[in-house]
Formats: sequence, C-alpha cells, structure tokens
Amino acid sequence: MATTKKISALFCFSALFCLFFTINHAISESDHMKTFCDESSKNTTRNNTTYNTNLNTLLSTLSNQSSFANYYNLTTGLASDTVHGMFLCTGDVNRTTCNACVKKATIEIAKNCTNHREAIIYYVDCMVRYSDKFFLSTLETHPSYWWSSHDLIPKSFGKFGQRLSNKMGEVIVRSSLLSSSFTPYYVMDTTRFDDKYDLESIVQCIPYLDPKNCTTCLKLAFQELTECCGDQLWAFIFTPKCMVSFDTYTSSLPPLPPPSHSGTFWIRGDNKILGGMVLAVAFSVFALLGLV
Ligand SMILES: *[C@@H]1O[C@H](CO)[C@@H](O)[C@H](O)[C@H]1NC(C)=O
Ligand SMILES: *[C@@H]1O[C@H](CO)[C@@H](O)[C@H](O)[C@H]1NC(C)=O
Ligand SMILES: *[C@@H]1O[C@H](CO)[C@@H](O)[C@H](O)[C@H]1NC(C)=O
Ligand SMILES: *[C@@H]1O[C@H](CO)[C@@H](O)[C@H](O)[C@H]1NC(C)=O
Ligand SMILES: *[C@@H]1O[C@H](CO)[C@@H](O)[C@H](O)[C@H]1NC(C)=O
Ligand SMILES: *[C@@H]1O[C@H](CO)[C@@H](O)[C@H](O)[C@H]1NC(C)=O
Ligand SMILES: *[C@@H]1O[C@H](CO)[C@@H](O)[C@H](O)[C@H]1NC(C)=O
Ligand SMILES: *[C@@H]1O[C@H](CO)[C@@H](O)[C@H](O)[C@H]1NC(C)=O
Repeated sequence: MATTKKISALFCFSALFCLFFTINHAISESDHMKTFCDESSKNTTRNNTTYNTNLNTLLSTLSNQSSFANYYNLTTGLASDTVHGMFLCTGDVNRTTCNACVKKATIEIAKNCTNHREAIIYYVDCMVRYSDKFFLSTLETHPSYWWSSHDLIPKSFGKFGQRLSNKMGEVIVRSSLLSSSFTPYYVMDTTRFDDKYDLESIVQCIPYLDPKNCTTCLKLAFQELTECCGDQLWAFIFTPKCMVSFDTYTSSLPPLPPPSHSGTFWIRGDNKILGGMVLAVAFSVFALLGLV
C-alpha cells in the first residue's frame, strides 16, 4: 500500500442523498479508515456501568496483547454484561506497527462509541471490534468499507479485469489452505503481466473463520470490490471478517513514482450495525463514481 493517499469520500446516507467531498490531507498507513458504532445497541434505560467496566478491561487487554500477537480474542464479564472482543492486524505489518495501530484503535473506539454495546473500527493496518454477542466464527459481510484510486487502468494493461479475477480466484484458494499459518489466511501475491506491469493481490480473513467461510467472505468482498473499483489502479476493502486489496505497478525500472493516488472511499452498512451512516445502496450510485 502507498504511504500516503489523497482521498475523496462519497458518503451515502440513503440512496437519494449522497454527499461527495474530497479530503485533502494525506493519510498514512496506520491512519484511521472508519468507525462504526452500532446505534441499535444503545439502550437508554439499561444500567451500563458493569458492561462499560468490562469493556474497558477488554479494550485495555486487547491493546496490551497487540505487543505479543497479530490477533487476539477475549471475552469478559458474565450474563448480560458479557463483552466479546478481538483485534486483527493485516499480514504485512510488524509487531511495532500492529501495537501502535491497535492501541490507537482501542482509544478511538472507546472515545467515539461511548455507551454502544457493539462497535467496529477499521484502520489500514488493523481492525478492532467488540460486541455483547458472540461473533468470532460467524460469517458477516457488513459493515464494509472500501477505498480506491481515482486512476483508471490504462488500456495498455490488456484484459485487466479477467486477469485480476483469475489471479484473485487463485489467491483465494491458496488462502483457504492457510488456516493455521502464523498469519492465518494471509496471502500476498505479485504477478508480472506482459513485462508491463505487476499486479499485487492481497487477501486475509480473521483467524476464527473456518476455511469455507473464509473463502465465501473473500469471494463476496472481491465481488463488491470489482463492482466499485475493478477498473482502478488500486483498491482495498475491509469487511468484518476479511479484507481484499489489489495494486498495480508498472514493472519497468524505475518503478512508478510512489502512488500519491487520489482516491475514493465508500461504505456499506446494513440496518443492524451503524447508525446514521450509510444504509441503502443504490446501484446507480456506482454511476456517480464514474463522474468523480
Ligand atoms: C468520532 O465521531 C465524530 C463525531 O461523530 C467524528 O467526527 C469523528 O470523525 C469520529 N472519529 C473517529 C476516529 O471515528
Ligand atoms: C433495555 O434495558 C432494559 C433493562 O436492562 C431491558 O429490560 C430492555 O429489554 C432493554 N431494551 C432493549 C431494546 O434492549
Ligand atoms: C446507558 O447508555 C445510554 C446511551 O446508550 C445512556 O443514554 C444512558 O444514560 C446510560 N445508562 C446509564 C444508567 O448510565
Ligand atoms: C448502576 O449499577 C451500579 C452497580 O450495580 C450502581 O453502583 C450504580 O449506582 C447504578 N447506576 C445507575 C445510574 O443506576
Ligand atoms: C495493560 O498494560 C498497562 C500498562 O502496562 C497496565 O497498566 C494495564 O493494567 C494492562 N491492562 C490489562 C487489562 O492487563
Ligand atoms: C479465543 O482465544 C482463545 C485463547 O485466548 C482460544 O483458545 C479460542 O480458541 C479463541 N476463540 C476462537 C473462537 O477461536
Ligand atoms: C516496523 O514497520 C515500520 C513501518 O514499516 C517500520 O518503520 C519499523 O522500522 C519496523 N519496525 C521493526 C522493529 O521492524
Ligand atoms: C460459517 O458461517 C455461518 C454463518 O455465519 C455459521 O452459521 C457457521 O457456523 C460457520 N461455519 C463454521 C464451521 O463455523
């Protein structure tokens, strides 16, 4: 991934109301992508004291554990005050970066999702999630969050869509065989085409999925990525259970200048998670992106 990216945002509060704007500051790798606080998990009459205490312990433990591991899960508390939580760092970051990312994420999620019993936060380098329900091994596809370049694949790249789809299919199969590797399900592949460009493909599932659900998660995420961004120079998607990204580099030396790609990101939620932001998704919205 590039170190800095200039990004634009398209937020859709409903199918009919989209707000487009450009964020002009560059964001770095460990920078924040998106927080989702589950509004439906608020309850104004419930006494949250014990739950919040358990949550704080959980977040503090996750933060501490990220010095020792690339992923971790934990359950604290009893009965209706039980909190489940986890973090996952992406497969390409070291312990130092992972720890810094998770530390920041746990602080942000506590600050921004006060009194929510369920929340998820995505950074480029890690994700952190907690919930009052057990979620580790279930397959969930939303809330998802994607992010892409603004630069179209040049015609000279040939049958790019087909190549991307074939390569990603192969990478997803390889991923499913890596459920117990050091960074479970993480695959990064770089393939050169026509001596013209390199295609970098990256996939990863959270370790608690079984291989079959991991494959399903990656296929659905890749499909979503294809629909939004299949003709872009690079794109990236995070879902609660897996992430998929691709990037292209021209293979001639010297390589392309470090991409300070301008980009677009977008979010899909569902009715359950995520208040306020992004519910309905109209396909016509994709057409809007073409105008960007
Ligand atoms: C926290 O929430 C505020 C207001 O809802 C928002 O402006 C801000 O971007 C959020 N910060 C993070 C890190 O999500
Ligand atoms: C809110 O909390 C109260 C007290 O614990 C509980 O009786 C009620 O069912 C909760 N409501 C919702 C919508 O969860
Ligand atoms: C519980 O959290 C809600 C917000 O979700 C808040 O309005 C309410 O005051 C809290 N209840 C208590 C007893 O602190
Ligand atoms: C919530 O419960 C705790 C522990 O049972 C109690 O100390 C506290 O006073 C209660 N808070 C409210 C607002 O009911
Ligand atoms: C995490 O580490 C800090 C600093 O070492 C410590 O104060 C805190 O108690 C630890 N948290 C947990 C839950 O172990
Ligand atoms: C959660 O972590 C514990 C170790 O703390 C591990 O034994 C357990 O298998 C993990 N849960 C899942 C669903 O993998
Ligand atoms: C970890 O990765 C970061 C970012 O790539 C780098 O700056 C740092 O030197 C690395 N730390 C170690 C201990 O390898
Ligand atoms: C796969 O995901 C489904 C849907 O969340 C879940 O019901 C099932 O238990 C998962 N399979 C395994 C083997 O965990």
